[in-house]
Amino acid sequence: MNQGKRVGIVGAGNVGATVAYSLAMLGSCHEIILRDNKIDVAKGKALDMSQAAAAQRSHTVVRVAETMENMVDCDVVVVTAGSPRLPGMSRDDLLMINANITKDVIQGIAKYSPNAIVIMVSNPLDAMTYVALKESGFDRSRVIGMAGILDSSRMAAFIQEKLGYGGGQIRASVMGGHGDDMVPLPRYSTVAGVPLTDLLSDSEIHEIVERTKHGGAEIVSYLKTGSAYYAPAKSTALMVEAVLKDTKQIHPCAVYLQGEYGYDDVVSGVPVMLGANGAEKIIEITLNESEKQMFQNSCASVRSLIDTLNKNKFFEGK
Ligand code: 2OP
Repeated sequence: MNQGKRVGIVGAGNVGATVAYSLAMLGSCHEIILRDNKIDVAKGKALDMSQAAAAQRSHTVVRVAETMENMVDCDVVVVTAGSPRLPGMSRDDLLMINANITKDVIQGIAKYSPNAIVIMVSNPLDAMTYVALKESGFDRSRVIGMAGILDSSRMAAFIQEKLGYGGGQIRASVMGGHGDDMVPLPRYSTVAGVPLTDLLSDSEIHEIVERTKHGGAEIVSYLKTGSAYYAPAKSTALMVEAVLKDTKQIHPCAVYLQGEYGYDDVVSGVPVMLGANGAEKIIEITLNESEKQMFQNSCASVRSLIDTLNKNKFFEGK
């Protein structure tokens, strides 16, 4: 079905490589191109994955681009490149380092894959999606951040764990930025169509909401030297598939807001309809007063990162 489709993945670490592996197993595209500064590691992973695809009887081939010039005419490019937070590095230092990495990568994408849909995965996610949008000059529908599917999946898994049933029938909903003040929405979460609020007590729901907000940190606390990658990669692969197959399905994604929900010039997670043209439609759901307040806090956190970028003259000349 998706013969001829090409997906670029920048950053072949745990998340990038697992996105590639998921897509190769699904046979979602004809070709996956990995780009990483560790070229030999990327080559080894690409060979391994092409061989896994052959075992799966998938037609997908995985190869490596040694430079951005070799990653041309992709239909979708996933960006996972970024530095982890190292000892002695403040959040603002990390923000500036990853903003500069994103800027370089996006300039390459805009030049060599000018028609691509860009899916951002690097952290801090919402701010990096903002940087990617500004640096690419692309329409906002073509630069989308992955977080809402991940955070909603975490919430769904926690609901299943708490209930002890309903697996595969849970639709959890999380809006807002990918940070501690994300906005899990129990009112919009269901199990086989049954509202969560009819199945669990307020205190049980509160526990799930809090655990969801810190879902990434919980995994880091076990892994110690890294962060989650299976669920982040699967969530990203779902977005890539939705674009390649033009599914027009609704997923929570990070997009640039221009008046939606009353916000402007900020990126946040909201339900969007994904299709061949990216985030083709932003869905505005009704929030009650406390949900609105949480969404406002979340947008304010993302705004403060954008303000730090501006204070450091990051967008000067744009
Ligand atoms: C996560 O939530 C680190 O953003 C990553 O697992």
